Amino acid sequence: MRVLVTGGAGYIGSHFVRLLADEQIESVVLDNLSAGHRDAVPPNVPLVCADVGDRGAVRALLGEYQPTAVVHFAGLIQVGESVRAPDLYYGVNLVQTLAMLEELTRGGVQLMVMSSTAAVYGVPQTVPIPEDHPRNPINAYGATKLAVERALQDWERAYGLRHAALRYFNAAGAHPSGTLAERHDPETHLIPLAIDAAIGRRGALTIFGEDWPTEDGTCVRDYIHVQDLATAHLQALRRLEQGAPSMTLNLGTGRGISVREIVDSVQRVSGRQVPVQQGTRRQGDPPRLVACASLAAEALGWKPQRSEVDQMIEDALRSRLARE
Ligand code: UFG
Repeated sequence: MRVLVTGGAGYIGSHFVRLLADEQIESVVLDNLSAGHRDAVPPNVPLVCADVGDRGAVRALLGEYQPTAVVHFAGLIQVGESVRAPDLYYGVNLVQTLAMLEELTRGGVQLMVMSSTAAVYGVPQTVPIPEDHPRNPINAYGATKLAVERALQDWERAYGLRHAALRYFNAAGAHPSGTLAERHDPETHLIPLAIDAAIGRRGALTIFGEDWPTEDGTCVRDYIHVQDLATAHLQALRRLEQGAPSMTLNLGTGRGISVREIVDSVQRVSGRQVPVQQGTRRQGDPPRLVACASLAAEALGWKPQRSEVDQMIEDALRSRLARE
């Protein structure tokens, strides 16, 4: 197996590339480095710096490296930005992906794993959320991911491209070595912001609402370690290689953690106070997003190994302290 990893210089993608290297599986990364980092890709893994929609670059890459599968992480991921600039999100996440798909089909690639998201469900009617829950995305980010999921079903019927669409809940943590990290610019995610507030690299963390209908009034999410996500991708790829039918799976733990519980964990693990200030609700935030996680366990034999909250915070903190 030789794997094309798009977005392999990004947060989740780079953890997956590292896992492939650990497993002695060859890979080639396609990343335009708009959000990824060159130093997150191991020196012996080829990095092609181009957009996924750059047909010439994709065609040349397919000719040179002849990958047998693609794992597609590349894309824009900020919910708020997607509401303000949907054209950007449809352009990158959908139009460019379709251009790449066309080249992949022409190049004979038959297997694909794609990054999808819990945002395809919109505001959930039931929690935990099973995969067959209605998909009603409330922002362009979720809408573009859902559109790609649907395109893949059509591609399979027409061209036989088998796929796994993996709907992540909240990715967290970092490689245990501390050498890979969550590095977004601007950073909008709770855990890196809470850690930075604790270690004095940023001001107080704003809690977006403490009046939600949850146990402690703050939003509840299902945080899943990035290493566990990487493992699920490899397991999905192996299943597809063995001939398994296409699959759509939630990747979460099935357990909800509130913003306050994250803050408590950061304080426990770092031994520092997290300065917090009360903010208003962030528009578009559902109060509670928790996966029904049984299908991935069943289909892949996947079981999260590092997704205990303190473990995720410890790994995230270590990797943060390793950077100045
Ligand atoms: N939060 C704060 N303060 C902050 C940042 C976040 O209180 O400064 C809260 C949010 O309101 C939310 C929780 O922390 O309740 C987690 O927020 P994140 O921004 O870390 O993550 P989201 O749940 O908003 O987003 C995640 C993924 C997205 C995906 C979305 C699906 O990062 O890619 O889930 O709804 F689209």
